[in-house]
Amino acid sequence: MPFIKKEAAPASVPEHVAIIMDGNGRWAKKRGLPRTAGHREGAKTLRRIIRDLDSFGVKYATFYCFSTENWSRSEEEVSSLMKLLEDNLDDLVNYKDENIRLRFIGGRERLSENLVKKMENGEKNSVGHTGMTVTLAINYGGRDEIVRTAQKTARLALDGKIAPEDITEELFGRELRADGVPDVDLMIRTGGELRLSNFLIWENSYAELYFTDTLWCDFSKKDLEAALAEFSRRSRRFGDAK
Ligand code: FPP
Repeated sequence: MPFIKKEAAPASVPEHVAIIMDGNGRWAKKRGLPRTAGHREGAKTLRRIIRDLDSFGVKYATFYCFSTENWSRSEEEVSSLMKLLEDNLDDLVNYKDENIRLRFIGGRERLSENLVKKMENGEKNSVGHTGMTVTLAINYGGRDEIVRTAQKTARLALDGKIAPEDITEELFGRELRADGVPDVDLMIRTGGELRLSNFLIWENSYAELYFTDTLWCDFSKKDLEAALAEFSRRSRRFGDAK
C-alpha cells in the first residue's frame, strides 16, 4: 500500500503525465552556483513531484532525465549528471513503503555498468508494485526509440513472424512501448522553452501541451495543480469534429 493519502484531484486527471524538467542551469546561475548544483536541486524536485503526482491519482509519469543530445554538454556536466543519477536512483522511490513501479527508457549501452545495475535493481525491486508507474528517460531520444522499434519490427518480418502489411500503428505502438504504458495525456515543460526536444515523439501525438516559465527547481505542488487544472479545462477531440 502506498503511504500517500490520495487527495481531491482536479475534475479530469490525466492518466499519463510526461515532464521535461528544464531550467536547472538557469536556477543555479541566478544563485551564482555551478550548473551541477541546479541538477542536484532538480533531483530533489523530482522526488517531490513524483509523490505529488501520485497524490493526485496520476497513474503514469515519465521524466526526461538525460537525452541522447545531452552527451554534447561539457564532460564535467555529463559526468556530474551521471553521478547524480547513480547516487540518487536508490532513494528516488522507497521500495518498502511505496507502491510505485520504476522503469527506464533509453539506450543503456553508453551508460556505466554501475548505473545500469542500479536501474535493473530499481526495476526488479518494484516489479510487483501496482501503484503509479514512474518511467525515467536516460540516454533517451524519441527518434532513436522509433528507429529501434523499426529495426525490431523489420526483424520480425525478416524472420517470417509477421508480414510487412501486419505493421500497423497498433502493432508498432505495442512494440515501441513495452509494459503497456499508454500514450501521454499531458506533457509539461518547465523553464520557458516551447518545444518537445525529441521527447516521446510517438507517445505525445495527441498529448495536451503545457508550458510554464517556472524553472524546474522551483516547480511546486501548486504549479503542478495549475497544470492539471488547465488539462481538465481542455477539450480533447483526438481529431474528431465537435
Ligand atoms: C535541463 O535543464 C535538465 C537536464 C538536462 C537534466 C534533468 C535532470 C534532473 C532534474 C536530475 C534527475 C535526477 C535523478 C536522480 C533521476 P538545463 O540544464 O538545460 O537548464 P538550462 O536550460 O537552465 O540550462
